[in-house]
Amino acid sequence: MPGHDLESVARSLVAPGKGILAADESAPTIEKRFRSVKVPSTEENRRAYRELLFTTGGIAEFISGVILFDETIHQKASDGAAFPEVLSRQGIIPGIKVDLGAKSLAGFPGEKVTEGLDGLRERLDEYRALGARFAKWRAVIAIGDGIPTAYCLEANAHALARYAALCQEAGLVPIVEPEVLMDGAHTIERCEEVTTAALGLLYTALAGHRVALEGTLLKPNMVLSGKECSRQAGVGEISGATVRTLRRTVPSAVPGIVFLSGGQTPEQATERLGAMNAMGAHPWELSFSYGRALQDPVLKAWKGEAANVPAAGRAFFHRARCNGAARHGKYTEEMEKTGA
Ligand code: 13P
Repeated sequence: MPGHDLESVARSLVAPGKGILAADESAPTIEKRFRSVKVPSTEENRRAYRELLFTTGGIAEFISGVILFDETIHQKASDGAAFPEVLSRQGIIPGIKVDLGAKSLAGFPGEKVTEGLDGLRERLDEYRALGARFAKWRAVIAIGDGIPTAYCLEANAHALARYAALCQEAGLVPIVEPEVLMDGAHTIERCEEVTTAALGLLYTALAGHRVALEGTLLKPNMVLSGKECSRQAGVGEISGATVRTLRRTVPSAVPGIVFLSGGQTPEQATERLGAMNAMGAHPWELSFSYGRALQDPVLKAWKGEAANVPAAGRAFFHRARCNGAARHGKYTEEMEKTGA
């Protein structure tokens, strides 16, 4: 039964002690990440870097799935195996980013809507044939003077719901990602208010589009102080506000919530996830789908040099292991000292 299949994939992605690696940086984003370590963004460098991530020994103990970019799902490892195959032979589920990016919302200065619905049915079929079993679509919500507007939240919720329904029709688990950005001087209270509104509208839209929540995952931001806010909330306040917001808005039929890191340091992202899991049982699994928080130390160790691959692999293993411990609420600062 297809519905049952979707649910079992969604549940595997949030299996105990495991989470998702987001390695779906678009061409401009990976260029920016490479530039920070002075590596030119050639196709071969991008391939070699992704091979390093996907072939790090023992990583399947902590990584349940990997989100790929269109270029990456078509690339191969040095042994000639396609990347989706490299992942699935280790028991890691391949996924794919299918949105085409957040574009300016006409008539609403400073706000964005994510594009990519036209032709999506055909692209989903193609990705499924290439081995993908889940997908990601990211909506971007900025906080500022008079924004977000209700119209921006609704337009993004509507697009996320249309995407999710198409994914389920194609046999892919949709990860729905409404990211409230941490850029700005807003307070944690304002972030909570906006996140609550965005998630409320999202679940209304998903119900309206007949999406089966059991076969979906949510990828939200944590509830945080804006980066430039003069009062920065601590770990207890963040984990409390985030769990409260999710309990108020996310139905318990959703198997799991996989946070984005969104500009938090790797250690902050791990510590905060650990604190939420240490609070006790929740209606859903609380896990990770980190990009920068898993990869930043890897890029710094790698720097584009083949000789650095073992050290970069150790840095990835260490971060994945720390986040695996955070899934059980067992992460401690001590783990950072004993790691790679
Ligand atoms: P970050 O964890 O770097 O925010 O990336 C996650 C992601 O996939 C955003 O869409």
